[in-house]
Amino acid sequence: MPVVAVVSLKGGVGKTTVTLGLAGAAAARGLRVLVVDLDPQGNATTVLDPPAAARGITDVLAQPRAGALADAVAPSAWGADVGVVASEPGLRAVEYGPAPGPRGDLRLRTAMQGAVAKEWPLVLLDCPPTLGPLTSAALAAASDALVVTEPTLFALHGAAQALDAIEAVRQSANLGLRPAGIVVNRVRPRSPEHAYRLGELAAAYPQLLLDPPVPDRTAVQQAAGAYVPVQAVRTPGGRATADAFDAHLAHLLERAQRPGPLHQRVGHDVRAKPRGARR
Ligand SMILES: Nc1ncnc2c1ncn2[C@@H]1O[C@H](COP(=O)(O)OP(=O)(O)OP(=O)(O)O)[C@@H](O)[C@H]1O
Ligand SMILES: [Mg+2]
Repeated sequence: MPVVAVVSLKGGVGKTTVTLGLAGAAAARGLRVLVVDLDPQGNATTVLDPPAAARGITDVLAQPRAGALADAVAPSAWGADVGVVASEPGLRAVEYGPAPGPRGDLRLRTAMQGAVAKEWPLVLLDCPPTLGPLTSAALAAASDALVVTEPTLFALHGAAQALDAIEAVRQSANLGLRPAGIVVNRVRPRSPEHAYRLGELAAAYPQLLLDPPVPDRTAVQQAAGAYVPVQAVRTPGGRATADAFDAHLAHLLERAQRPGPLHQRVGHDVRAKPRGARR
């Protein structure tokens, strides 16, 4: 069961968009997917629109025990194949409150034990834009970490910081964690600046940069505004973004079949689709 933490240390680069795009791609394939919204902003929860849940993620983290996450799963408005563990306002106190203690990082991992693994073949963890307690808990619970960035001046630096953070959690709390790749979001195909930044990322992370980049299309905002997956937006932009997310989902599922040696280092342990194969 891949458990994929979607991370960036910068806000607004598209973590939630990528999480929801992957969830929509999974649903389109008939693959059951659970989205866990670990961001106090609750953007994924808003779009997935679950009914008011008796339990949410705050309760799960407050009293972590095996099976606690499964108990907090609510159905989403996207259909039976997409479940959600909703963000709640109380999550802000977890992110910005007192430090959780040495075992605090393991709360989500503990709560995920039990029924979740049996019922959900794919779990996506939408993280807040900081390396605070919630992102640490997500990385400690994940099998894979997907880094999201935009093709800007700060992309290289941001990706490097995120990969360092992943490696730190791997060493301290989760030896099974692997970087799943770098998704570049909001790319405009005809922008020389974006092409330059993509080239920089490809040179720095030839094995990690995922193809294709996610294009900058208004279909993404239309989908979120209509509370539907981007796969449901039948425009050229909707199809282009859906194709990118489907390719990234295929990559995640394919690599989940391959066991990853626990000692491999960031940057040398995955075989992302080579950039030469760009469509
Ligand atoms: N590929 C895209 N094309 C067009 N708009 C996009 C794309 N990706 C993201 N956006 C828009 O950019 C904004 C930020 O995206 P998103 O919420 O996914 O980022 P985030 O990294 O989750 O933000 P935060 O750090 O606040 O959680 C949203 O309004 C979203 O609709
Ligand atoms: Mg977000």
